[in-house]
Amino acid sequence: MYLLIDEKDRKYLVKGDKDMHTNYGVITADKLCDENVGTIIESHQGHKYRLIKPNILDYMEKAKRGPQAMTPKDCAIISTFSGLSPGSKVVEAGVGSGVLSMYLANLITPATLTSYEIREDFAKIAQGNFERFGINNVEIKMKNIYEGIDEKELDLISLDVPEPWRAIEPAKAALKIGGYISSYSPSIEQNKKFCDALGDSFTHDTLETIQRDWDMEVVRPFSRMIAHTGFITIARLVKR
Ligand SMILES: C[S@@+](CC[C@H](N)C(=O)[O-])C[C@H]1O[C@@H](n2cnc3c(N)ncnc32)[C@H](O)[C@@H]1O
Repeated sequence: MYLLIDEKDRKYLVKGDKDMHTNYGVITADKLCDENVGTIIESHQGHKYRLIKPNILDYMEKAKRGPQAMTPKDCAIISTFSGLSPGSKVVEAGVGSGVLSMYLANLITPATLTSYEIREDFAKIAQGNFERFGINNVEIKMKNIYEGIDEKELDLISLDVPEPWRAIEPAKAALKIGGYISSYSPSIEQNKKFCDALGDSFTHDTLETIQRDWDMEVVRPFSRMIAHTGFITIARLVKR
């Protein structure tokens, strides 16, 4: 895959196997090749595009959406505060559009991420994204996470489901001591219910991140910002 960035900084992900038709002319497939990475290529109308290799953030941005996908700021909080690293053993629910899944899978490779999901239509969207972007270390499991977690000795269970408190008992049996369970919920009531259900087996923290981007031409914040998305609780199993 290749990433094209146009004169207005708009991004396009392309496979490079066929000509690309843009509003500013055609870019022929022969220009979309490894030799041209790091150069500026032109459409037949003379419009310029920078050609680079994409990374996981580009895939997350361009993934097909079904249900609401997680933002990079929230993905980062979950991975940072659970100390994920290559080889970590992780289960998540639900897969949704597969955006958080791609982020987690990229971090823990060569390990495989197991993603529980109850809706076939969402699983299909997520699987389509994984195949399109060559993510081959996610296994989607069609199972309700409230009904049990098959995997054991997990480093992290990451929840983005409506009733996360119902996954706590299964999580206790599936996590290793010192492992984490995270829960992302749009409403603070859901989060409170989750925290109350953790009991004394976990230590926990709840946070919300607000991202304010700055316009460095005028050196002040943009008037629009990514404010509230969800509350995240990250809990650590200290005893069963
Ligand atoms: C908001 S979406 C997840 C989005 C995902 N984090 C992303 O970044 O693309 C929530 C998903 O959880 C699934 N879900 C809801 N309850 C579930 C359960 N009990 N077990 C497994 N999946 C569940 C839903 O079908 C839906 O696909």
